[in-house]
Amino acid sequence: MLYTTRTTLLCTLIVGLGACERGAPTAAPPDAKTPTPAAEVLIVPPTLGRPLPGLSPAQRRQFEVGRVVFQTEFTPETGLGPLFNAVGCGSCHEEPVVGGGGSNAEEGGEDIEVHATAFHAGSETAQCNDLAAVGGQVIQKQLTPAYSEYTHLTSEPIPAAATDSGHRTTPDLFGFGLLDAVPDGEILALADPDDRNGDGISGRPNRTADGRLGRFGRKAQAATLREFNIDAFVMEMGVTNPGNQTEQTIAGEPLAPGIDPVPEPEITAQQFDATDAFVRFLAPPPRGPFSIGAARGALLFRSIGCASCHVPALVTGANPNRVLRFQIVRAYTDLLLHDMGPDLADICLGQALRSEFRTEPLMGLRFASAFLHDGRATTVRRAIELHDGEARGARNRFLRLTEFEKRALQKFLQTL
Ligand code: HEC
Ligand code: HEC
Repeated sequence: MLYTTRTTLLCTLIVGLGACERGAPTAAPPDAKTPTPAAEVLIVPPTLGRPLPGLSPAQRRQFEVGRVVFQTEFTPETGLGPLFNAVGCGSCHEEPVVGGGGSNAEEGGEDIEVHATAFHAGSETAQCNDLAAVGGQVIQKQLTPAYSEYTHLTSEPIPAAATDSGHRTTPDLFGFGLLDAVPDGEILALADPDDRNGDGISGRPNRTADGRLGRFGRKAQAATLREFNIDAFVMEMGVTNPGNQTEQTIAGEPLAPGIDPVPEPEITAQQFDATDAFVRFLAPPPRGPFSIGAARGALLFRSIGCASCHVPALVTGANPNRVLRFQIVRAYTDLLLHDMGPDLADICLGQALRSEFRTEPLMGLRFASAFLHDGRATTVRRAIELHDGEARGARNRFLRLTEFEKRALQKFLQTL
């Protein structure tokens, strides 16, 4: 868990509002370097990382228990490994508060992962192999001491069967329970795989192996938030749970006895359910203050075609949870896959081709420090300039805006 200068600065700025939830020092320690002032001062609202309003007392308690499990640092004695990327969910999803994104600006940091798959082209039968049989799509960067001693390795090698690999920064999770509650039909209605309306933007759904609509992960590979969370415990921390009791291993080899001493499942159903509730009930980030410039930018966002993919709002359907039922979620995504051109392309996943990515939700954008799936863009403007493929038209219209208009658009994006 890395405390960046940026966070310390943010926290120092908001002392007194009680918004710094991680117990940051109220003043910089005497030996701290003077932080370079950020170009734009970002205020972290005190409500960021809070639950959706209206939870029942029982749900509220489960949310708080879940936050504790989310922040737990696992050890080999409590289920960590044998392969893992980090010791807890909160080691990566931590900026600027628990449940947020990673310290993604840090090159080679633990919050940036390596994913690999194999694409087998064929005229009729192009297929993506997620390498599940040889250690899975997530390439773990760390081994527990016992496993490291046994294998003489310090990280999982990319399986020989892989044809492609790519990096993934850690996204924030604010408001994702609402995205889980959007009915499939609403997303499918936005798809236009054959581009019948001729706007150059198709958008198609990803599907899981059993045919369900995918929506989570940068390639929309996972169908439900629950399944994503189940696998996150195993893929990221090597913590098995009632939903997935299979440890990830090097090349998928069975584990020798004694290497992973804790019997499966390594957490209980209650612990898992609480973590799931924590993620599910995290409220979307409150919108930042709106200026006249931002209002102009919001109009430009629509008129140059950004909103064709970054659909401003989705509506949740009937849901057993009252707080998730018939809610508007201003996520700025259609949850569909779009071809973003050859430069951004990395791995295939499910039905997503190398160049296809899910429209990244822009809610919470102002809290991010690196942009696009692998964090290659250090500014929002650069992220827009790197849009290609189906987004080329919108990008070119952005490039033709006056500097004044570009700033207005950026002011709008700063409210998300
Ligand atoms: C090593 C860092 C790391 C850890 C630890 C980690 N995550 Fe993540 N998380 C990521 C990355 C990277 C992604 C993006 C994955 C992708 O695009 O396929 C992600 C994506 C997600 C998503 C989907 C968000 C989206 O954009 O659709 C959820 C939900 C999630 N994580 C939950 C969890 C939970 C719950 C835990 C703990 C059990 C956890 N994560 C642990 C790095 C991490
Ligand atoms: C054809 C669909 C499409 C259009 C049109 C489009 N985008 Fe995107 N946008 C995407 C996809 C897909 C990603 C994720 C790409 C990646 O991760 O590599 C993305 C990512 C982004 C990101 C980075 C988000 C993050 O957190 O990393 C920003 C900012 C963004 N878009 C803004 C815009 C703006 C502004 C416009 C209009 C000029 C626009 N987009 C037009 C599909 C689109």
